[in-house]
Amino acid sequence: MKKLRVDTGNNRMNRRFHASTLFLLTFLFNIASSRDNMLPNHIKLSSSLTCRLVGGLTREQRSVCNEAPDTVAIAFEGLQLAVKECQHQFRWHRWNCSSLLVKSSNPHASSIMKRGFRESSFLYALSAAGVAHSVARACAQGRLLSCGCDPLGYRASHDPRGRARANKWEWSGCSHNLAYGIEFSKKFLDVREQVDDLQSKINVHNNNAGRSILSSHMEVRCKCHGLSGSCQLRTCWRATPDFRVVASTIKRQYRKALMVAQEQLNNNPSSVLRGRPRGRRRGKAKPAPKNSLLFLERSPNFCDVDPRIDSAGTSGRVCRIGRTSRSGSCDLLCCGRGHALIRKSSIKPCNCTFHWCCRVDCERCRDDKWVAICK
Ligand SMILES: *[C@@H]1O[C@H](CO)[C@@H](O)[C@H](O)[C@H]1NC(C)=O
Ligand SMILES: *[C@@H]1O[C@H](CO)[C@@H](O)[C@H](O)[C@H]1NC(C)=O
Repeated sequence: MKKLRVDTGNNRMNRRFHASTLFLLTFLFNIASSRDNMLPNHIKLSSSLTCRLVGGLTREQRSVCNEAPDTVAIAFEGLQLAVKECQHQFRWHRWNCSSLLVKSSNPHASSIMKRGFRESSFLYALSAAGVAHSVARACAQGRLLSCGCDPLGYRASHDPRGRARANKWEWSGCSHNLAYGIEFSKKFLDVREQVDDLQSKINVHNNNAGRSILSSHMEVRCKCHGLSGSCQLRTCWRATPDFRVVASTIKRQYRKALMVAQEQLNNNPSSVLRGRPRGRRRGKAKPAPKNSLLFLERSPNFCDVDPRIDSAGTSGRVCRIGRTSRSGSCDLLCCGRGHALIRKSSIKPCNCTFHWCCRVDCERCRDDKWVAICK
């Protein structure tokens, strides 16, 4: 269904912000790519200027950016991927990630990332996975000077001869460099968490959860070699999965995220939890599983506009009629304010006929649809 643009002015703004940041990043990347041919000083200067212009970076992140502007440019592609996936995964939620696009292309600049909501934990995990994902791929694609294909042959742990295969196969393709991606994601994102408090520890835990979920979805891809496709020899490599798969798994973890006990505010968050998986008895403290998301505070209802928590409110949102208490239902999405029906017309090809040979004629029909919009 095509979404209705209610606030076109604002949308245009977003796109402009977006375009300018992307321009900056492209610029940054071009500079970075030319690093091997002895950079003149003024170019080094302008790349550090670019690092200063990207919104919401901490001092420590800026210094990583100055050190490795090319990798940071790729990291930002990963953050964009995360924002896009967030919008997909939360398209029927009251809070739908749209606020992340407003300020800059850096989701960490948005105020929801300074809070300890369940949504914040999702975003931390998704961003950390996104950065690792993009960097791992970029290494293998030869887009970075500092890394290449994953040099590990994986022979030791995955020896195919153990499984008596008819055809030989070898780990000789170019594997996506997950280790490098994860290391850079740590270096660039965990470095934000300088304060030694519970919130920072939880953020790092959630970053790790995202990266760990990414690792657990790595795929093996193979290609056949041999006369006329006989597949006498296969070469295989490890590849990062489609990011949608990673995001969907993190979304499942979001649903069963664990709340960190308030009475444990001064203790190690990964060892003491109040929240417990459904069905378990309360009480026993145990270490948080490494793929679990942790959060600190209950989420607000996100019904009304409140910039302090990045809430755009739900007024004007398209909702789904006739599915009570399901995600995106008008009941839930409109917060009890009710909805209005609006007619949307479009012209579509219809009654098409095929004429031998080879022409298709169509009539143009008006297609009227009723769309429900939250009041
Ligand atoms: C997300 O919510 C905002 C604000 O309510 C709205 O403008 C936007 O269209 C929504 N996005 C999607 C994909 O529904
Ligand atoms: C085209 O389709 C409409 C309804 O779908 C129908 O009423 C009409 O008779 C069709 N016209 C032709 C030429 O088939």
